[in-house]
Amino acid sequence: MRVLVTGGAGYIGSHTAVVLLQAGHEVVILDNFANAERDVPERIAAVAGRAAGLEEADVTDAAALARVFARFRPEGVIHFAGLKAVGEAAEVPLEYYRVNVAGSLTLMQAMAAAGCMRLVFSSSATVYGEPDAIPIPETHPLRPTNPYGWSKRMVEQIVEDWGRALPGLGAVTLRYFNPVGAHPSALIGEAPRGTPNNLMPFVAQVAAGLRPRVSVFGDDYDTPDGTGLRDYIHVMDLAEAHLAALDLAAAGPGVQALNVGTGRGCSVLEMIRAFETASGRAIAFGITARRPGDVAVSLADPALMRQRTGWAARRDLAAMCADAWRWQSRQS
Ligand SMILES: NC(=O)c1ccc[n+]([C@@H]2O[C@H](COP(=O)([O-])OP(=O)(O)OC[C@H]3O[C@@H](n4cnc5c(N)ncnc54)[C@H](O)[C@@H]3O)[C@@H](O)[C@H]2O)c1
Repeated sequence: MRVLVTGGAGYIGSHTAVVLLQAGHEVVILDNFANAERDVPERIAAVAGRAAGLEEADVTDAAALARVFARFRPEGVIHFAGLKAVGEAAEVPLEYYRVNVAGSLTLMQAMAAAGCMRLVFSSSATVYGEPDAIPIPETHPLRPTNPYGWSKRMVEQIVEDWGRALPGLGAVTLRYFNPVGAHPSALIGEAPRGTPNNLMPFVAQVAAGLRPRVSVFGDDYDTPDGTGLRDYIHVMDLAEAHLAALDLAAAGPGVQALNVGTGRGCSVLEMIRAFETASGRAIAFGITARRPGDVAVSLADPALMRQRTGWAARRDLAAMCADAWRWQSRQS
């Protein structure tokens, strides 16, 4: 299939581009490099053994999208391009809605004009807000608690409404839990600019001696060791989930939202210990107050994704830490 991957130079997009290329798809990456290094497309080619095409463009630019669709004639689109920092989204909500919502809308209009009817969209577990039930099924109410989560919720709604109006549309919105790790080659991975927002890249930087210690936000939650439990998923498992979702979107019309997680919980302290084992380094940490907005536990119910696509996560916490450490070691 000819697949347009927006945000394909980013963290999850680059790993997905590798998996798509290795599965034999023709890939064009569309990215404005707002949050990616320029040499990522070359590194993708080195890992995959084949290159993807590259269009440097902004997903909010309708004229640029029309040109890309005319040139490449994609049969499917995987849409990663967007802004993703929850804290920043609360400070500059209009920018988040412009890129994440208006950008997605512009892309869907370009798809409609070109007759492209297969879409996989990057949503997030943040659409659920504070969970009523653990593990969280797709039928859980959607109650985002910040503008980033709302931007994902709004795009899900737009895709759903588009599917109602266009019965031929095959679309899958994937609700990711906590992506971590890197490709085992250590040629691609997550390269956060400034202070990492997420736990594992932070822990990796402490292990590498770039930061003094990890702050553990709260050890008095109702969990086995008192620290927050999350559903971490290896980015290569997540990349493979996109391949499966693309096949599902291509298999027939309909719009579906699916969780992508392992269904297994890992606490902050477990993550720190696993990273110490993977890196052979001691990781200093200190307990600080709970962070407003954090929930005690967030775990996916991944059963529907498995049932619909046959996909299930295969890589464990040790592999997540080992691959993240190999990547971090190449950076510092
Ligand atoms: N990483 C996570 O924890 C996580 C969790 C849930 C959902 N998501 C979603 O998955 C998607 C990919 O996330 P990621 O972690 O790979 O982020 P990322 O920032 O590494 O990748 C996003 C890519 O999109 C590009 N981009 C940003 N704005 C653009 C624009 N206007 N036009 C074209 N390209 C643009 C960036 O340069 C970057 O390469 C995002 O939509 C994000 O919201 C991420």
